[in-house]
Amino acid sequence: MPLQPDDLCPTPADLPESPKSLSPPLYLASVYRCSSPEEADRMLGGELPGYVYQRDGHPNATMLAEKCRQLHAADRAITTSSGMAAISLAVLALLKPGDHVVVSKLLYGKSRFLLTQEAARWGVESSLFDPCDLEDAAAAMRPNTRLVVVETIANPLLEVADVPALSELAHAYGALLLVDNTFASPVVYRPLEHGADLVQESLTKMMNGHSDVILGLLCGRQAIWDRMAGVVSAWGLNSSPMDCWLAFRGLTTLHLRMERACANALHAARFLAERPEVAQVFYPGIDSHPTHALAVRQFGPRFGSIVSFRLRGGRPASDRFIAAAQHIPFCPSLGEASTTLSHPETTSHRGLSAEERQQLGIDGGVIRLSVGIESPEFVCESLAQGLAAI
Ligand SMILES: Cc1ncc(COP(=O)(O)O)c(C=O)c1O
Repeated sequence: MPLQPDDLCPTPADLPESPKSLSPPLYLASVYRCSSPEEADRMLGGELPGYVYQRDGHPNATMLAEKCRQLHAADRAITTSSGMAAISLAVLALLKPGDHVVVSKLLYGKSRFLLTQEAARWGVESSLFDPCDLEDAAAAMRPNTRLVVVETIANPLLEVADVPALSELAHAYGALLLVDNTFASPVVYRPLEHGADLVQESLTKMMNGHSDVILGLLCGRQAIWDRMAGVVSAWGLNSSPMDCWLAFRGLTTLHLRMERACANALHAARFLAERPEVAQVFYPGIDSHPTHALAVRQFGPRFGSIVSFRLRGGRPASDRFIAAAQHIPFCPSLGEASTTLSHPETTSHRGLSAEERQQLGIDGGVIRLSVGIESPEFVCESLAQGLAAI
């Protein structure tokens, strides 16, 4: 079921009974007063609702997690200090030495590093697979595979993963499917409704949308939730009250921001496809994208706010474009209200060897745009300004 704008505004049920403020209060307290040792004991044990120590939970995290739980139609949701902390939480809560994870080779570089090299230090084995090739995914599975990890829309060439097919495969091996939905947000796609067991979002990006927060989210089914809160507290993966308060406010406009940004992104992709300086445009919403048909089937009318393109002149052309496109700041993140750009070769994918980047189709001419909520004319004029300098 698509997410509705009405789901996003705080309702009286989201807010405290007293005092009756329309916006949520911010609770900065690091610790709370307890009425008795028995009450403290029961609250810390999860038998009684309430708060004792901020690392174990606080009202702003509860409010934000509950909103996100509803947006993803999940049984449970928990916020973390960053998107990376949410992936760490899944690993720490669900895996043990001797387990095996199947990891999309197109995953965000730090997630790939965490799930392969870092996890290996704790005795968790991994295999990489191509998320666009289900046979490759099947070949990577082993009897001890516990987790398959994929992004709904990959970075930076925006390949769309077949979530229902991958969940069927994972479940056939008794494994769980974890989907990083950061590039889609629940406005474009809700993986839990299509077979995923866990969804991760970097709330830092579109969900908050105002470039002032680092925060993560993990959502999933009740049956796999036992260890989550304890792991967040023990490993110190908890989110801060101020960040949660800001992200809760950011969510109020998520639907409007995403609708506008997705429409602008489609417009920008079509504009770039007509330009002679551009060798290739990557956007799941246009016919030429290799996963366009799957994107239409899976997402319907919206394809996300990220567009990548390859300039004909390689790295020198990128350098000139970035210097000249003065209304599009070079910011190696995404999901802001304004349009920004990034250069994968020197930022998100700098940890890979030149050969690995070449295999993924990333060269110095690739630019990744995070399209914002300005007017479509502003976005295209800003792009034209950069292209004119090549
Ligand atoms: C797809 C994706 N997942 C996870 C992350 C990590 O999120 P955070 O920076 O909030 O830790 C990022 C960060 O860029 C990302 O792009």
